[in-house]
Amino acid sequence: MPRTWAGKLHDYFSQNSPIHPHPNLPPEGGKEPWCRIKAFPSHSLEDEQPWFKNFMSLLSVENLKVSYGGIQALKGISFEVAPGELVALIGSNGAGKTTTLKTLAGLLHPAAGKVSYAGKSLHTVPAHRRVRDGLALVPEGRGVFARLSVEENLQMGAYTRNDAAEIGADLERMYALFPRLAERRTQLAGTLSGGEQQMVAMARALMSRPRLLMLDEPSMGLAPMMVEKIFTTIRDISAQGVSILLVEQNAKLALEAAQRGYVLESGLITLSGSSGKLLGSDAVQRAYLGGD
Ligand SMILES: Nc1ncnc2c1ncn2[C@@H]1O[C@H](COP(=O)(O)OP(=O)(O)OP(=O)(O)O)[C@@H](O)[C@H]1O
Ligand SMILES: [Mg+2]
Repeated sequence: MPRTWAGKLHDYFSQNSPIHPHPNLPPEGGKEPWCRIKAFPSHSLEDEQPWFKNFMSLLSVENLKVSYGGIQALKGISFEVAPGELVALIGSNGAGKTTTLKTLAGLLHPAAGKVSYAGKSLHTVPAHRRVRDGLALVPEGRGVFARLSVEENLQMGAYTRNDAAEIGADLERMYALFPRLAERRTQLAGTLSGGEQQMVAMARALMSRPRLLMLDEPSMGLAPMMVEKIFTTIRDISAQGVSILLVEQNAKLALEAAQRGYVLESGLITLSGSSGKLLGSDAVQRAYLGGD
């Protein structure tokens, strides 16, 4: 399939951008060797030409802060997803990954910061409108409707749409994408395996025809074969032009699928760059890939 202009541009940045310290990085991070490398070129470009940033970003998050009562889960994070990009957000338990996605979906309200999607602020946009506007979340733990059939779950994903004929056609597309679900259309979702439930959750989200698909730990609890299948599908969805924000504890898997990535630690983004550079960096190797 031919790449879109955005895809080509990001291929370019992926190949040419050095890994760079994120603005949120605490001062002691400056001792790391990668901090001496020149900053990501697009940053200075964005600073000089703000219009370029809006043109580039499908999603732009600036200084986002989210608290649960007294606990500050996100302490001011900034990141972007461009049209057609697959971006990974990696981090260990409790880093704030799910909090980030829930906030973007409109399920949590930020204490501070700006979130723009398709050039518009999401500040006052309720969760159901975000789905209609093309922001879809596949939640952690899948969240399938256990007492509904596979097909009813998928139909629920289209609840913001009223184009019945197109919904029917999309159902068939989902069964083509996930043949295993086609065999189980009438089965109650609660009786499916973990991997099959992940497929239902992904297909349900795709039924809203998202522009940006947010996936929260799709590999969690799955056998290696099923993880491989799910990640192949994620790549296929990305190749069809859907932008993806992929949250994973499995840093290697996520970075191998993504073009760029961000590392989230205790509510702060500490590192960002192209996936290749992040995979090769000492900091990521040590913290997430079991390197010395
Ligand atoms: N409902 C809640 N009430 C209070 N604190 C919460 C709540 N949900 C999350 N937190 C806290 O916010 C922080 C971030 O949690 P979050 O679920 O976003 O992390 P995560 O990166 O998704 O972790 P995991 O990899 O375990 O899913 C944690 O310290 C967590 O204890
Ligand atoms: Mg989580």
